[in-house]
Amino acid sequence: MSDAATPAVTCAGAPADWQNPLRDKRDKRMPRIAGPCGVVIFGVTGDLATKKLMPAIYDLANRGLLPPTFALIGFARRDWKDQDFGDIVLTAVKAHARTPFRQEVWDRLAEGIRFVEGAFDDDAAFGRLADTLKKLDAERGTGGNHAFYLSIPPKAFPQVLEQLSTSGLATKPDGCWSRVVIEKPFGHNLKSAEELNTLVNSVFPESSVFRIDHYLGKETVQNILALRFANQLFDPIWNAHYVDHVQITMAEDIGLGGRGGYYDGVGAARDVIQNHLLQLLALTAMEEPVNFSPDELQAEKIKVLSATRLVAPLDDNTSRGQYTAGWQGNEQAVGLLEEEGFSQTSTTETYAAITLDVDTRRWAGVPFYLRTGKRLGRRVTEIALVFKRAPHLPFDDTMTDELGKNALVIRVQPDEGITLRFGSKVPGHAMEVRDVNMDFSYGSAFAEDSPEAYERLILDVLLGEPSLFPVNQEVELAWKILDPALENWASHGKPEPYESGGWGPESAFEMLRRSGREWRRP
Ligand code: BG6
Repeated sequence: MSDAATPAVTCAGAPADWQNPLRDKRDKRMPRIAGPCGVVIFGVTGDLATKKLMPAIYDLANRGLLPPTFALIGFARRDWKDQDFGDIVLTAVKAHARTPFRQEVWDRLAEGIRFVEGAFDDDAAFGRLADTLKKLDAERGTGGNHAFYLSIPPKAFPQVLEQLSTSGLATKPDGCWSRVVIEKPFGHNLKSAEELNTLVNSVFPESSVFRIDHYLGKETVQNILALRFANQLFDPIWNAHYVDHVQITMAEDIGLGGRGGYYDGVGAARDVIQNHLLQLLALTAMEEPVNFSPDELQAEKIKVLSATRLVAPLDDNTSRGQYTAGWQGNEQAVGLLEEEGFSQTSTTETYAAITLDVDTRRWAGVPFYLRTGKRLGRRVTEIALVFKRAPHLPFDDTMTDELGKNALVIRVQPDEGITLRFGSKVPGHAMEVRDVNMDFSYGSAFAEDSPEAYERLILDVLLGEPSLFPVNQEVELAWKILDPALENWASHGKPEPYESGGWGPESAFEMLRRSGREWRRP
């Protein structure tokens, strides 16, 4: 606990919150700069901290978006001094930052770097953490404002939350803030997510809880809102009258070697469908919010997730697979069961596909197909609205042999942009119609680089802007949608094998074929 000699907390410069009407009147094109604050990272030795969090903090500093008094505090069971931790951060920054290295930016950031050695069950270590933060408040001017980033295994959440509560770090005097940032997985089913939410909310009010879904920080994901609600062109056709079905694909070419500790027993559906893909569905299918305040945006997402359910029978309308050895381009890949860190009898799925109905007037009868997988042919994330065929084609069949269905594709990554696919006459004397693509690409349309998702999200935490963070109800609804598929798969034993470098198990193809549809080949 803090000792009597530690200077008193001085609350200063906490940014106004979203309820402040003046804030909404400001010009949102102006750069948003965080007020005085510090970030404490639990789990600094992990991959996420090294590859994403520490580099994102440097990138924010480099872009002038952090206060000069900013502090970064690492907490871990390592025998490190502040300087040792500083060296670790520097190495991570040099290896993974998005923006160029600038010595003067680094020097200023390094002055605010501290390290606290301790285990999560060590009360004294949390006392030392409280002391360190108080000293930083007084000496560096962090203003009594602290974000606690839990980049740790979920089983450690309860212990750390309790320590933050008993050490007094979770509650702050008026004018100061204390926020908690939680990485996924947020529970492993509805019941555990509800329990975790109850626990989190017993320590931090919901307005101070920032659950990370890094897909919501991606530029192209935010562009779904611009595309849908800033244009007149798309809304009239964004419904069951025109859309045949929607495909949301998140394909990765990487395997899981070394990630067994996290992934084995979790699987593709819990890893990304429960969060990233259902969030993409919510943004694609929701109604227009009254405005873009966090409450209004969340209200629409909650409404559409409440109307979303798996299509029965589950055996026909879901699919799961596990990759086996194969060729990924010209590299030979081993199967999951040979990967380091996985049990030889693992039944963890590395591919999952589900069919959903959204029971609203806009989407009645339009299936939403979601799929994700590791070791697939190519890395691509996209949302494709596939349209119905024209009701009448005044051409001979031979003229339209090569005409598919029109499609509007939001290319989330890589090659971020939007593609419109439609039929066009092939040049020549004959009337022959074939599919062509019209492309918008971020890279050629804009000179600006997009910030990394974690840059945007960390800055939003420091500004207290919650729009891009799923609230408790969203997380629970997503589990409620997915749970029946997880339970059904659990009763079936092993997932279906699929070859590395391919596009998933046969049952996934069959899932669409049954209704005369097929997956897009990205
Ligand atoms: C994470 C998943 O949330 O997203 C990983 O846990 C996945 O399994 C990653 O590889 C993909 O993120 P991105 O931004 O590279 O698409």
